Amino acid sequence: MPDALPDPRSPAAQALPAGLLDALGGILGPRGVVTDPADLQPHLSDWRGLYRGASPALLRPASTAELAAAMRLLHAAAVPVVPQGGNTSMVGGAMPDEGGRQVVVSLARMNRIRDIDPLDMTMVAEAGVILKTAQDAAAEAGCLFPLSLSAEGSATIGGVLAVNAGGNNTVRYGNARELMLGLEVVLPDGQVIEGLRRLRKDNTGYALRHLFVGAEGTLGFITAAVLRLFPRPRATALALCAVADEDAALSLFRRFRDRDESSIRSFEYMSGAGMDLVLQHIEGATLPLAERARHYVLVDLASSRPDADLRGLMEGVLEEALEAGEVLDAALPESEAQSANLWRLREEHAEAQKRAGASVKNDVSVPVSKVPEMIRRCSAALEALIPGSRPVPFGHLGDGNIHMNLAQPDGVDGAAFLARSHDIMDAVNAVVRELGGSFSAEHGIGRLKTDMLAEWRGGAEFDTMRRIKAALDPQGLMNPGKVLP
Ligand code: MLT
Ligand code: ZN
Repeated sequence: MPDALPDPRSPAAQALPAGLLDALGGILGPRGVVTDPADLQPHLSDWRGLYRGASPALLRPASTAELAAAMRLLHAAAVPVVPQGGNTSMVGGAMPDEGGRQVVVSLARMNRIRDIDPLDMTMVAEAGVILKTAQDAAAEAGCLFPLSLSAEGSATIGGVLAVNAGGNNTVRYGNARELMLGLEVVLPDGQVIEGLRRLRKDNTGYALRHLFVGAEGTLGFITAAVLRLFPRPRATALALCAVADEDAALSLFRRFRDRDESSIRSFEYMSGAGMDLVLQHIEGATLPLAERARHYVLVDLASSRPDADLRGLMEGVLEEALEAGEVLDAALPESEAQSANLWRLREEHAEAQKRAGASVKNDVSVPVSKVPEMIRRCSAALEALIPGSRPVPFGHLGDGNIHMNLAQPDGVDGAAFLARSHDIMDAVNAVVRELGGSFSAEHGIGRLKTDMLAEWRGGAEFDTMRRIKAALDPQGLMNPGKVLP
């Protein structure tokens, strides 16, 4: 049933200037304006359960032209808007505030893959295409779209570009930014930047496309993108290793890099604490090693050369590392099902922590060489800060990006634990700062970390960000309260 346009006396209509919802309905049609509270509900709380917002309406334009026309109206009426993709933000980046005036805009209906070109190795995808759908479409065309992350079944192309998502294959292919050649963007005032150029070289003034990647919807809407594709892997090898400690994990990374850097597709670290939570809370998850360990590494190798002997490479490097005492045990899958189980052990980390109770996330990065020291020092600082809490470091060791998460102690009140979130983040950030790292490696700033941005990126860097925001969105209507405090 299409949503009927709201009664002009309804709370939704009253939160907005008179006649605006009717005018939006005229542009977007009945399917494009949602005001029924039950239909709005899923768009008003975030995946982590940190925020609960309020909004008079959800807009669902079906095309760039519809969005542009709607934005012209909203801009003229000074109505704040919150872009929302798959709503999988870890930092509340897609949540309206509690005030009830911010309109949520979803581009889920703009879900066409406009073009795939295996010669140019490009895909033109609209913002609402689900990441997994883009991966599958690339594979059907005999290519690879390599961006891969735990939320890929819900995250959208617009969302992953807006937050410059990282994920499991960044070590080889880069972040979302590196996978983007051109963008189509609707600006806050409804103008459209038509930048869907599929060029490898395009040095024509300011690279505006890069402004919108990582801006988290605070400068405009990404409505479509030209994405880079890659040759599809024809040889792969995977291994789950128990390793002696954090230094052994780093040393194993170095061994693979020295032997053949180009074959490393993912190099992921997991602590024993994180693996234990996955084995406890995720149905069907099993550890294919003789014993549980305190540290694990998942190594994924891939090559587009069918004759690349990656199994040989994997076994050779692991043998050396076993002899050196760095690797304690390893499992190499013999089937697709076994490979999928190994990846599940890694990908279900976030879900397992959610099921285990309250946890605080610290998505930090340091130079790769500093990862072992960072994990050890942060773990010690967290255990001292909250006795009985469990540090759960895991993540993208090959990028120096570890999720230095902290799970609540057993038997304590989750809310009381979460009330200490800022102390917990400060304790981690103090170490990370000393090691020359970043307080947000791949999850962005959202609503959660705006104060940290001001503190870490003060001076000319922060001032320049403010001036860019003021130039493109002088009324502060795009995703207010995110990124910049
Ligand atoms: C992941 O890599 O699984 C997510 O980015 C991490 C998280 O839950 O912090
Ligand atoms: Zn991650």
